[in-house]
Amino acid sequence: MTPSTAPRRSVLVTGAAGEIGHGLISSMRADDVSIVAMDLREVPDETRKLCDAVHLGDVCDKNFLEHVLTMHETNEIYHLAALLSSRAEHVPETAHDVNVQGTYHLLRLAARLSESWGSRVKFIFPSTIAVYGIRTVEDKMQAGALRENEHLSPITMYGANKLYCESLGRYYSRHYRQVAKGRPEHLLDFRCLRLPGVIAAETRPSGGTSDYVPEMLHAAAKGEDYACFVREDTTIPWMTMPECVEAVLRIAQIDTPPHAVYNIGSFSASAGDFAALIRKYFPEGNITFEPDEGRQALVDSWPRDVDCSSARNDWGFQQKWGLEAAMEEYIVPAIRKHYAPTT
Ligand code: SER
Repeated sequence: MTPSTAPRRSVLVTGAAGEIGHGLISSMRADDVSIVAMDLREVPDETRKLCDAVHLGDVCDKNFLEHVLTMHETNEIYHLAALLSSRAEHVPETAHDVNVQGTYHLLRLAARLSESWGSRVKFIFPSTIAVYGIRTVEDKMQAGALRENEHLSPITMYGANKLYCESLGRYYSRHYRQVAKGRPEHLLDFRCLRLPGVIAAETRPSGGTSDYVPEMLHAAAKGEDYACFVREDTTIPWMTMPECVEAVLRIAQIDTPPHAVYNIGSFSASAGDFAALIRKYFPEGNITFEPDEGRQALVDSWPRDVDCSSARNDWGFQQKWGLEAAMEEYIVPAIRKHYAPTT
């Protein structure tokens, strides 16, 4: 047997205390990989114990990022840290700093490290359906499943930030210093997935606008009342956290994909579709609808569905569950287990 010459994977996960960070780090632990977690907030013990190192700090701090990346000789970055759409509308300038400046610093550093190490640093970046901006609900319903290059006029700071960072990532990985003499031989390797609303059973989101479904679920599972902040007919694409993590790990591992940015999603469903099923499984919770005009407008500008054919054709993305199967096979059992009384 020939010994492997590939360098050991040294992974940095920013935003490690968030929902995707939790799911990703738990799934990655099985691989032979050194995991370094970073967040501004305390990383929960459950995640912390799976990591080789944890750094508390700000992605806007260039020196701190450089220190962490060089100290751990990072060759794979999962840049999850971000201020999500609703939170970003309260503090748009801070959101810009975190979502754009933070990403820009990391991309530059990863580009420099790729050059000095003579091998491409992988940069995995979650983007969002918030990069889309459809003008009216009628247009949204007519447009159906959007392809990656349609309706790219985001109405949120978060969507604008992510759309720009997709372009920056594409630039650094494919066109960096394209007319300069002595152009670097090894550019960074940027891969991006545009995520739909993501539903996790073990963790709860904060600051997003698609949070209404996870909030509804967790409230009902605890037997609490929930007033949903969007209309019953509000429809966007969704997937479960295990599917999301699987897709993130897959895009990181395949040979260079032809495109830098891919839509993914498993099913399209309205808030009312979820409420009807949740009432069936958790009848103790009382779900009502009290739309908030501001947050409603954000979701109304997002597509009803996304076209994932590029992801399917280029790297075999497959949705695992539709709405009913996702509830039956993952969400309901996992959430029941999560809230089961411990004896
Ligand atoms: N979940 C994100 C949000 O609601 C959208 O991708 O901000």
